[in-house]
Parts: sequence; structure tokens; C-alpha cells
Amino acid sequence: MRETRRAFIAGVAAAGLGASVPFRRGSAEASIKEYRLIAGPATTKLVRDDRPATVVWAYDGAVPGPELRVRQGERLRIVVQNRLGEATTVHWHGVRVPNAMDGVPGLTQPLIDPGQDFAYEFTPPDAGTFWYHPHADTLQQLGRGLAGALIVEEREPIAVDRDLLWFIEDWRLDEEGRIATGFGNRMEAGMSGRIGNTVTINGRLPDRVSVRPGERIRLRVVNAALARIAGLRFDGHQPTVLAYDGQPCDPHLLEDSRLMLGPAMRADLLLNMTGVPGQSYPVIDDFYRDLSDKLLDLAYEPGRPVAQQTDAPPKLPGNPLPEPDLSAAERREIVLQGGMMSGMGMSGMGMGGATWAINGMSMKGDGGPDMPPLFALNRGQTCVLALRNDTAWWHPMHLHGHSFRVVSRNGKANPIVEWRDTVLMPPRERAEIAFVADNPGDWMFHCHVTDHQAAGMMATLRIS
Ligand code: C2O
Ligand code: CU
Repeated sequence: MRETRRAFIAGVAAAGLGASVPFRRGSAEASIKEYRLIAGPATTKLVRDDRPATVVWAYDGAVPGPELRVRQGERLRIVVQNRLGEATTVHWHGVRVPNAMDGVPGLTQPLIDPGQDFAYEFTPPDAGTFWYHPHADTLQQLGRGLAGALIVEEREPIAVDRDLLWFIEDWRLDEEGRIATGFGNRMEAGMSGRIGNTVTINGRLPDRVSVRPGERIRLRVVNAALARIAGLRFDGHQPTVLAYDGQPCDPHLLEDSRLMLGPAMRADLLLNMTGVPGQSYPVIDDFYRDLSDKLLDLAYEPGRPVAQQTDAPPKLPGNPLPEPDLSAAERREIVLQGGMMSGMGMSGMGMGGATWAINGMSMKGDGGPDMPPLFALNRGQTCVLALRNDTAWWHPMHLHGHSFRVVSRNGKANPIVEWRDTVLMPPRERAEIAFVADNPGDWMFHCHVTDHQAAGMMATLRIS
């Protein structure tokens, strides 16, 4: 990874680049942060047993890819070089980028062919925890390891002792430690998707995370799995949620003491390490009853606690998001359909033998211009999407280019005021989400269980 900072000429900065570009004279914010990301094959040791190292597809040879960090308001330029044997693109998940930077092949940009480059350049408007991944042959490219975190730092960081990232990935490995083939298996695609057998955190098998008694940790959790949903319990601790999907919310304790993250979802937690020095406390993932498993141990170092920060959890500064005006909203119904055990059959629905559909239409693969938008919105309009999951499966539904309010679930107002870019839809449930359609372009709306996306649970919205 090559990283350079290219300061703007001071005079240009002083002259002002317009009110929409926040910068302080002489600060890092008037600069461009540049990265070069090379997508290509690499070898890494994912498991500790005597199986050989795994050949993965990686950014800069690492899984996860390099953690990209930029200050809110700072411009980011990422030159992606494709050294894979197939075409790719990069999507900046959750970042409200201009449409041309969104990474959807055929819709917002051409594919980056092997041997070619593409330069992404944008100024992330929001501080928070985001991530990046391919949007071409996504099932295989993400499943083979192409993913990384993109952290946009607040202008005024909150006071914590440590800022920790847990980037969760889920792999299906065979006895030889190889990534199992069979991506896009139809049976799996019609069910919960490709759930793996090996979960890693930051590219390694989780074991123990050592913590100091009394410290206060900001924990950024990213679920970068293809299909696996996480339901994390922090034994002996009471994490406070500071943000979901990168967007700050009022600090609150976890609902049911469990952090539910579907694929692509993130949370920023505040953890006060109030445990006993020398003791270990498990973090359990019990989303799948039959797969309930200890993820890792929070292992306290022995010794005297560091001075405990006892003040109320800090609230993250808000991001410049436009508040939806529910009194003047365009309302659209969205019905998620298909899959095994749908009770409505899988035949005769959608196009070309797809497994899943949205409002009777199935866009397959990774997106593209081959299907008309589900609907069009006028720029600036508030839109309420009334989502109904008519299937027997969970779907983390992701909207590109926008964050949205989750207004209600199953007809009941959401007690938490939150922004999301991905809403987890349990089987047979409903949710209403609302956003201001302020970002012009054609935007994907799809399930982030990658098998579901590839098998038809995908559509586009047009904002003009
Ligand atoms: Cu992370 Cu189209 O998505
Ligand atoms: Cu789905």
C-alpha cells in the first residue's frame, strides 16, 4: 500500500472551495489522501491447524484488505489495480458517494478488466465505520476474501482509550484448507446462502483479545460475511451502541443484550472494561441455535485497573444527513419474494428461473442496466419504503447512496432513532424505512446475502 498526502496549495484552500467543502486552513482536511489498492491472489494462513495456507483473493495481499482511514471532509482517492484473472469493481459500502463512484458495473462504471486500473475519488460526507468490497462476481470475489474497512474519523474524536476494529469474515474451507468451490449452488441460494465453516476476525481465527482493566474501548464491528448473520453476546459486559452502519444514534444499551448484524451491517460499540483483572469473558455468537459458538474471549490483564472513565457514554457528533419529511413522503411498497418454503412456489415468478424477486421482478448477478428501475423518484423527495418480507428467510436489505431512518417494524414505531444503510428483515416481517432522495443516479437496492442478490433479490431506484 502506498499512501501519500498531497496538500492543496495553501492559497487555493484559503480562497475557499465553496461552503460544501469543510476545511480548516492548514489542516489535513484540505488535502487528498491517496491509496493504491491492488486486487489479486495471495496466500494466507487462516487456520492454525496443520492444513496448508489458503489461496485467497485479496487487496494488497492481505485479508482483510488495508484499513483505509480518512478524516471527515478530507478527499479520498483510491486507485484500484486489477491483477485478478477476472473483471472487478469496488463498492464503498455505506458511503454516500456520487453515483459515478459507486462501483456497480454496467450501471455506474465499466468493469475494471484484468490488468486495468480505475481511480475512485470522493469526499466521504459522513464520519463512521464503512467498508469496501467488489460489486462484480461478488459471491466469489467477496467469498474469496476481497473486502476491507473504510474508517472516516470524526473531526473531533471522542475520548476513548482504544479504537478497535473487528472485521468479521466467514469462509468455507475444505480439508486441505482451500476455499471450497460451489459458489452459487442453487439449493443454498434458495435458502440461507453460503454460510461457511470458519469465522475470522481481522483475518485470523479469533482466540483472545487482551484488554486492560478499566479501559474504555470503542469497538467497531463489521459483518463482512457472505451470508452468516451474527448475534453477539458480551458476557459480563453492557456494551452501549454509539452508531449503526456508521451513523451515530443516541447511545443505548443493546436490545436483548445481543448485537444483531446481518451481512454488511456494522455497529460502533462503547465497552467499559469493568471485569475482574486476570479473568476472561466470552463473546458468544448464538444467532444460529445449532451453531452457537464462542467467538473469542475478552482476556483481562492482571493488575490494577487504569483510571476508569465513569462519565456517560459520549454521543458521536451527528452527520450531515437530510431528515425525511414523513408528512410529504412518497410511499412505495416493496415485497420480498421467493426462496424455499415460500409457500408461493418458486416457479413462474421473476425472470429466467431466478430464485428470489422484489415486486415480482428479478435482477440477477451484480447489477447492471439490463432491467428498468423499480421506480423513479424526484430529487429531494422524501421516500418511505414499506418493506414486506413474504419469504421464510432473513434478508439484510441494502440501499446504495443513502442512509435511511428505520421508522417502524411490524406497524410499531421504532423506539430507537437510527440511520442505517442495511435493514435486517426477519422472515414474514415488515419494516418502513424513510430517506430523502437527495443523491441523483440509479442506485441498487438488494439483499446482502450474496447468494440472494445473485439469484434475483435486487432492483434499482432512479433518482433524477
Ligand atoms: Cu455492500 Cu451493493 O453492496
Ligand atoms: Cu436475502
